[in-house]
Amino acid sequence: MSRRIIPVADVSAVPVVSGPVQTPSGVLRDTLSRPLRDLRISVTDRCNFRCVYCMPRAVFDKDYGFLPHSALLSFEEIERLARLFVAHGVEKIRLTGGEPLLRKNLEFLIERLARLTTPDGRPLDLTLTTNGSLLARKARSLKDAGLTRVTVSLDAIDDALFRRMNDADFAVGDVLEGIAGAQAAGLAPLKVNMVVKRGTNDTEVVPMARHFKGSGTILRFIEYMDVGTSNGWNMAEVLPSAEVVARIAEHFPLVPLEAHSAAETAQRWGYADGSGEIGVISSVTRAFCGSCTRARLSTEGKLYLCLFASAGHDLRALMRNGSSDAEIASALAHIWQARGDRYSELRGSNAIAPHSPEERRVEMSYIGG
Ligand code: GTP
Ligand code: 5AD
Ligand code: SF4
Ligand code: SF4
Repeated sequence: MSRRIIPVADVSAVPVVSGPVQTPSGVLRDTLSRPLRDLRISVTDRCNFRCVYCMPRAVFDKDYGFLPHSALLSFEEIERLARLFVAHGVEKIRLTGGEPLLRKNLEFLIERLARLTTPDGRPLDLTLTTNGSLLARKARSLKDAGLTRVTVSLDAIDDALFRRMNDADFAVGDVLEGIAGAQAAGLAPLKVNMVVKRGTNDTEVVPMARHFKGSGTILRFIEYMDVGTSNGWNMAEVLPSAEVVARIAEHFPLVPLEAHSAAETAQRWGYADGSGEIGVISSVTRAFCGSCTRARLSTEGKLYLCLFASAGHDLRALMRNGSSDAEIASALAHIWQARGDRYSELRGSNAIAPHSPEERRVEMSYIGG
């Protein structure tokens, strides 16, 4: 039976909430008292990889309805929104995709964002999540433009397995060159994210740990999530983080490390011999919605309050209908203050069933990790 796949551009927009005018105070709290601190901005819905768990080739083929250029937010529009988010308390901005390095002249956007400061004058933590394929040639210009650090996705150190997972014949060597280029350019600390799928790449957990141990990069293992509607997610393919830690500890003793902040997605573990750290991101077995301070802006300017949301607030429409900064800032305040999303927690407590494939939800490639 073929599943009905909904092109991401069809995901509906919810009306922007309005109410009494609110001026940014630097602290905005949602209904669960969570502040707004992180903004993840997707700059393209396209990618040169076809990772099986994110953009399966059968769905994201040549007929797939990617966004036309006219739908994308311009760099001016992104900067404008980012400035308003920062006034509301955002301290960290992550550029995502698809693959963000495919967006033309991304350095120009980074230059603009790097000039923003928090209300008390501090620079932002400005980072980017990339598949690494174009990083070797871009690392220097990204750093020069003002990027602070990068996170590179890499799901296997075994070349044949990696090529199968990205399904676009990219070699591990290309990504490792990108990582080396980023390190040489001073984009630090460099993190590597590995999505672990039981039965697909869980045999790579220990080899990946071995490869990156002592290299200065922070390797993080992510539980495979039921995000989007096209990856055919199944709980049996999730390898719980506890098992990841146990497998690594059999080879390299680990000690728990303190979290840097309450909002951190990863639990940190240090190698007992002092040769660095790893992280585990347990979005399935140990949800972290209680401290979720993240908002996500799609390539076409819709604001999503959760990775598992089915609809976003259309900020592009607000900008293109001539709203003032004050009006948009006020709308952002109302939107965040009405937020009650905590999908992973609810799914974890069995309060809701995992989404059915028929349901409308945004794809990871559209909203970024
Ligand atoms: P750092 O500041 O570098 O620690 O980044 P981060 O952990 O906030 O972001 P990153 O993009 O590296 O997140 C890693 C992975 O964690 C993502 O690819 C997602 O799989 C998952 N993740 C991040 N944010 C969320 C979230 O808000 N909800 C859920 N369920 N998963 C998330
Ligand atoms: N589960 C967990 N992580 C995912 N990513 C993409 N799809 C999933 C999923 N289903 C991760 C990628 C990358 C980031 C953009 O999101 O590996 O690190
Ligand atoms: Fe592209 Fe990243 Fe999705 Fe892989 S996980 S298809 S690299 S956006
Ligand atoms: Fe935040 Fe939604 Fe992820 Fe929970 S599931 S941590 S609310 S993005």
